[in-house]
Amino acid sequence: MKILVVVDSHHQGNTMKVAEAMAEAVPMTVVRAEETPQLNFGDYDLIGLGGGIYYGKHGAAISETANTIHDRPVFVFSTSGTGAEKYNEPLVSALKKNGIDVLGSFACKGLDKFFIFKLAGGINKGHPDERDLENGKRFILDIIEKYNKKEEK
Ligand SMILES: Cc1cc2nc3c(=O)[nH]c(=O)nc-3n(C[C@H](O)[C@H](O)[C@H](O)COP(=O)(O)O)c2cc1C
Repeated sequence: MKILVVVDSHHQGNTMKVAEAMAEAVPMTVVRAEETPQLNFGDYDLIGLGGGIYYGKHGAAISETANTIHDRPVFVFSTSGTGAEKYNEPLVSALKKNGIDVLGSFACKGLDKFFIFKLAGGINKGHPDERDLENGKRFILDIIEKYNKKEEK
């Protein structure tokens, strides 16, 4: 099974840490969103889309990538100041609107040095932490299980 994960992690590299932890749990190719023009999604069985949350949603690089995926199941993840999973909803909705099967969504906190938070050295220092990364690994293992069950049917 071939998995491709596309990541937009331009603030602090937080979401890339989550993607790298997932890649320790399950073999996968992790690329930055800006590298996707050379990629052919058709070469993969499952696609992951992950990014920092900027102004309440994933950044444009991930939304644009999402619009180029056809016929492949997808999972979504993010890091943010609050760590809220609701921030994944705009991306999940856009994918579903395009007929994409979204297998699941994961979110955790990430170091946030945006705007005034920069003054105190940021909030959520140390995040994603070991526990966040373990949760990310557990999430990807669940996604694989879900994928395999669907394939068996
Ligand atoms: C321009 C900007 C806007 C942000 N907007 C939000 C937001 O709306 N809600 C939130 O919880 N965090 C927000 N954050 C915090 C980031 O989502 C958080 O630091 C995230 O972990 C960054 O991920 P990255 O390092 O992978 O880019 C924002 C950060 C920046 C730089």
